[in-house]
Amino acid sequence: MNLSVEIAGLKLKNPVMNASGTFGLSEYADFLDLNLLGAVVAKSVTLNPREGNPPPRIVETTCGAINSVGIQNEGAEDFVKNKAPAMKKFDTVFIASIAGLTVDEYAKVTDILERAENIHAYEVNVSCPNIEAGGKAFGMYERSTYEVVRAVRDRTKKPVIVKLSPNVTDIVAVAKAAVEGGADALTVANTYLAMAVDIETGRPILGNVLGGFSGPAIKPITLRMVYQVVNAVDIPVIASGGISCGRDALEYLLVGAKAVQVGLMNFSRPDIMLCIIDEIKTFMERKGIKDINDYIGSLKI
Ligand SMILES: Cc1cc2nc3c(=O)[nH]c(=O)nc-3n(C[C@H](O)[C@H](O)[C@H](O)COP(=O)(O)O)c2cc1C
Repeated sequence: MNLSVEIAGLKLKNPVMNASGTFGLSEYADFLDLNLLGAVVAKSVTLNPREGNPPPRIVETTCGAINSVGIQNEGAEDFVKNKAPAMKKFDTVFIASIAGLTVDEYAKVTDILERAENIHAYEVNVSCPNIEAGGKAFGMYERSTYEVVRAVRDRTKKPVIVKLSPNVTDIVAVAKAAVEGGADALTVANTYLAMAVDIETGRPILGNVLGGFSGPAIKPITLRMVYQVVNAVDIPVIASGGISCGRDALEYLLVGAKAVQVGLMNFSRPDIMLCIIDEIKTFMERKGIKDINDYIGSLKI
């Protein structure tokens, strides 16, 4: 049975990878063999180290959680010096995630990451606040999405995967702007802008007041967006949103995602991605599917 898929020239052993920021690569390597994953995606990095948002930074809600981590990271130089080399021992596709608060910062981060020897592709996180435009995320607008993607595209020959924000009126328009900017693939999508309040204290729960909602509750909404984007662009789409079991992953593949990312569920089930791969295999056996590529996008309408 063949589980391997190709995305922008990268050959993945199977279509399952972690979502950025939800899976500390070196820590989780103790729980699960990273070589068994289709790819691993690093947490987003910015130019300078960031402490992230004030606590509390995560709150559980019905069927999900809202987080406001705020891209806490050690900066791009540290990533190239310490984090990327630690991934050399693994035989799987390694994707770095680029973040920034200005277009110029995305460009500078790309220049620094280009010095790492073992990054296979970049995922561009356009859900960061654009401080030159009042703090609205780059990914909320076609123009700023295009500008960020273009800045990264102009600096690398490696595959550029653009991770879209779902906080838009028309996901297809932003997806097309990313393609125009030079994206080789798209990840659909990041977290949904949300908030939680405490009726006892009368205060917001998160230190940052607003956060990003993810987990099982978002799956039907992101599934809809993946379906719309797959039918509107000619580049591969990776799905990210609410996957907690093999069936969720298979739903995304059915509507046409070439691969899936697992996020929040890694926190409660560090082995969940391996279970998902097994469940995909069991489904293929049961249905007599020999090649996962024959199943991808086979939705009948
Ligand atoms: C705690 C936390 C931190 C995250 N950090 C990042 C990040 O650094 N970069 C990024 O692109 N997405 C980040 N995300 C979004 C996830 O990668 C993923 O796209 C989203 O959570 C939807 O998937 P899920 O429903 O499986 O969690 C984060 C999500 C969570 C829950």
